[in-house]
Amino acid sequence: MNPLNSNRNSAMQRDGQGFFIAFEGLDGCGKTTQLKKTADWLCQEGISVLCTREPGGTEVGKNIRSILLDPANSNLVDQSELLLYLADRIQHLQECILPAKRAGKVVLCDRFHDATVAYQGYGRQLDLTGIHSIVQKWIAPHYPEITVLLEIAPEIAIRRIKQHGEIGDRLEQESALFFRRVSAGYRTLVEKMPDRFICVDATESIETIHQKIVSDLSKILKLKSSVS
Ligand code: TMP
Repeated sequence: MNPLNSNRNSAMQRDGQGFFIAFEGLDGCGKTTQLKKTADWLCQEGISVLCTREPGGTEVGKNIRSILLDPANSNLVDQSELLLYLADRIQHLQECILPAKRAGKVVLCDRFHDATVAYQGYGRQLDLTGIHSIVQKWIAPHYPEITVLLEIAPEIAIRRIKQHGEIGDRLEQESALFFRRVSAGYRTLVEKMPDRFICVDATESIETIHQKIVSDLSKILKLKSSVS
């Protein structure tokens, strides 16, 4: 069964392929809420959706995620961290994202490779040329068609993380300086590839942000939709 509503001349139907959308931003930016609202809207449009995330979108990935985020692993070497994120991503692509796209689904993924560039490249200040061949061979051919970036100032992100009231995970415990570098990393990516990004002000209300995402995605996916 074609998971897409046959009345719509969508971009996915034209290509006979699925469509891959990543959601990115600093911790606390609200991307997980927006991803869920986008999924609900697309489902109402009759579109078959897969919601997933990185790290941790597969069984193997869940184990990798627990290593990466456990605050007890404070001795994890930066380069090991980098390779664990890549391992999670390659597993996720092969096991989950690519089969879903082949089945014609719209894949909504909570983070993808931009997070590695922003967090490990800019945040940790790692030289990513060392992983260039892995990225070129296994990841770059499968970049998302669209990336929704929820932008907030690093100071607001940190305040929101602290408001959770729990001890943050290993990444959430990073310094303000770290999050400032990550934020600058995302900005640089937008400047390099403006056509791939939908940028939204994540300090707006949940509904306002959702409306902006629906409006932009409707045009891109060629849906005649309004916010419900
Ligand atoms: P999450 O809280 O959005 O699920 O992401 C988990 C943490 O992992 C978050 O602090 C961002 C971080 N992260 C990286 O540092 N590099 C990556 O490649 C990814 C996917 C996430």
